[in-house]
Amino acid sequence: MVIAIDGPAGSGKSTIAKMLAQNLRGNDGGPFTYINSGNLYRAITLGCLRQGIDPRDPERVTEYAKKAPVMYKAGRLYLGDEMVEPLLHSDDIDRAVSPLSAIVPVRHVVNDHVRNIARGLNAVVEGRDMTTVVFPGAEYRFYLDASNRERAKRRFQQGVSRLSLEEIEKSIAQRDATDRNKEEGSLMVGPGVIYLDTSDLTLSQVYDKLVEIIH
Ligand code: DC
Repeated sequence: MVIAIDGPAGSGKSTIAKMLAQNLRGNDGGPFTYINSGNLYRAITLGCLRQGIDPRDPERVTEYAKKAPVMYKAGRLYLGDEMVEPLLHSDDIDRAVSPLSAIVPVRHVVNDHVRNIARGLNAVVEGRDMTTVVFPGAEYRFYLDASNRERAKRRFQQGVSRLSLEEIEKSIAQRDATDRNKEEGSLMVGPGVIYLDTSDLTLSQVYDKLVEIIH
């Protein structure tokens, strides 16, 4: 059973996806695996930056992505032998990941990883094109949204960025523009996908709404 969640940066989808994966059971009674596809793009970006590869260079990025040793081990994302999750939300990666994720062959590499990880499992998958491209047939498909200001505030409050609130809002708007205008896998509300604006909702209100729909 697959629950797919898409939405822009700061819409709360990672937190909600994790909560659903922790608390729900699939139709077969088995637990859910949580898959964050954005983190796969981020890990590939980290590898490129470390190797001096320009994240906007389609040939070199694709060559790297095809052999990048990204994998989940015990629910944690590794690049080779290194657990890289704490390194994936720096301002440098925030800036570089969106153009990198617009490179179509890189999208195919990530899509294959996500489908392979989810195969045969109950999975909560989140990203930008999980509901439209990667799992259009998922049992449940949601699009979580929030206003630019609210999303910037949430990122600011995480305390991981060195940018001001205004700078974060600008960077989010730039990232949205790239994410909504991709040749493939653009951020959009697909047909039949349940849309929820979370701007004025708490996390537990969003969680409760989704669980109500799933049940
Ligand atoms: O969800 P996130 O902010 O960690 O995603 C990082 C970047 O990767 C973001 O700019 C959009 C891109 N992305 C994508 O294009 N497709 C996905 N399925 C997930 C993320």
